[in-house]
Amino acid sequence: MFEIIIYFFATVVLAIWLMLPAYIANSMAVVFGGGIPMDLGMKLPDGKRVLGEGKTLRGLVGGTACGIAAGLLQIFIIPTFSIQYLPTIIQYVPTITAIITLSFGALLGDIVKSFFKRRIGFVRGAELPLIDQLDFVAGAWVLTYIFDPVWFTRYFISSPWIIVTVLVLTPILHRLTNIFGYNIKLKKEPW
Ligand code: CTP
Ligand code: MG
Repeated sequence: MFEIIIYFFATVVLAIWLMLPAYIANSMAVVFGGGIPMDLGMKLPDGKRVLGEGKTLRGLVGGTACGIAAGLLQIFIIPTFSIQYLPTIIQYVPTITAIITLSFGALLGDIVKSFFKRRIGFVRGAELPLIDQLDFVAGAWVLTYIFDPVWFTRYFISSPWIIVTVLVLTPILHRLTNIFGYNIKLKKEPW
């Protein structure tokens, strides 16, 4: 029983650790966001904005930079990691490519989501349950799989439990950080 609990926590910690650049990129986009929207206010023939006011260059650049910085910090921290029951974490060696694709891919996924959200008539900020919370995970995974398939296969595809944990945990973490962001008046909606 004790070992199952340890294994469970190790999986959760590793999942967060693996996804950290994407998590940081996604949340920091909110902090740095603002200014001119990336679609420059343009609309498509359907009369709706291409992306909407919520997708800005500042958010994209600031978020990506913070995600990459977090990843570099992870590489730096790794050698000092030695938690007795978590051998998997010590084996985690992030690549520069993965750090970049996790960060940039997260925000790319979010942008692609907004594009389709506008097409189906959802205004900026309207809630699309689960999709709003997993868009950036999908973007991070797809881009990482394309550019660093070896790394992605090693840490995600070959350990399905990590994938399941990320899919279950992310909406929960997302919700909690957004409620926090809403309370400190960083975000307009608590989702
Ligand atoms: N943000 C940004 N640039 C990005 C992503 C996010 O500036 N590339 C900022 C915006 O201020 C945005 C906030 O982060 O309002 C929250 O992001 P998100 O929930 O993804 O956008 P929404 O405003 O909800 O818009 P959408 O309906 O398109 O998801
Ligand atoms: Mg939103």
